[in-house]
Amino acid sequence: MVERVKSGVDGLDRLVEGGFLKGDVILLAGNTGSGKTILSAQFICNGAVKYGEKGVYVTFEENAGTLKRNLLRFGYDLEKLEREGAVKILDLEAIKGAGLSANIEFILNVLREIGAQRLVIDSLTAFLSACEEKFEYRTLMHLFYKILKKLGCTTVMTCSVPTGLETLGLGIEEFIADSVITLENIVHDGELKTRFLIRKMRGTNHSKKYHEVMIDRKGLKIVSFSMS
Ligand SMILES: Nc1ncnc2c1ncn2[C@@H]1O[C@H](COP(=O)(O)OP(=O)(O)OP(=O)(O)O)[C@@H](O)[C@H]1O
Ligand SMILES: [Mg+2]
Repeated sequence: MVERVKSGVDGLDRLVEGGFLKGDVILLAGNTGSGKTILSAQFICNGAVKYGEKGVYVTFEENAGTLKRNLLRFGYDLEKLEREGAVKILDLEAIKGAGLSANIEFILNVLREIGAQRLVIDSLTAFLSACEEKFEYRTLMHLFYKILKKLGCTTVMTCSVPTGLETLGLGIEEFIADSVITLENIVHDGELKTRFLIRKMRGTNHSKKYHEVMIDRKGLKIVSFSMS
């Protein structure tokens, strides 16, 4: 029996046979402002609050203070979850210069320390920029992927994609991502909308349709795509 992990995002689990596969690495690729940070933070917060799974959120894009402030608007109190030991936020901006292998080691130590079952890296694009040598980052990321699998830690890695770009451009998505989800900004009838598409999810009979990302005061959810 395969173990599924609830995403903590309304409307998503029903599109993927009930949830992500435990230990999978999910690449969440999207345009700027498409909801990557909010979606991945909900995965961590609801994981802790609703499903009792500890989580580590690694932020490169926004500093921890801004992230906490923005999420509080949706009722997610990261500060409190951190105090309770259910969530750990790592602001890696400060040690960016340390290089990729040191950062990977640091993250793995924190995961083991708190017994985390969920991990977010926001963003992988910024994380990889810590490592310039292409050969090395492929090898290191593959190793990282294998260790995460062994730990059974379900991981969401976000990836920034410039508008209109067809590929993710990382060159590693085939071997470190079990799943690729894209969030795409489009303007329809003078209104900005975000399309959600599951491009691949190994081992899962997933939805192949476009859905829509909606953000309201309760947070981000996935709904049917409407062109009206
Ligand atoms: N309180 C809110 N209510 C409604 N919509 C909101 C709220 N807060 C943010 N948003 C929407 O979410 C978007 C930002 O989402 P998020 O930060 O998750 O995007 P992102 O994909 O991580 O962007 P980036 O590429 O800048 O990291 C905003 O541009 C806005 O459209
Ligand atoms: Mg972001």
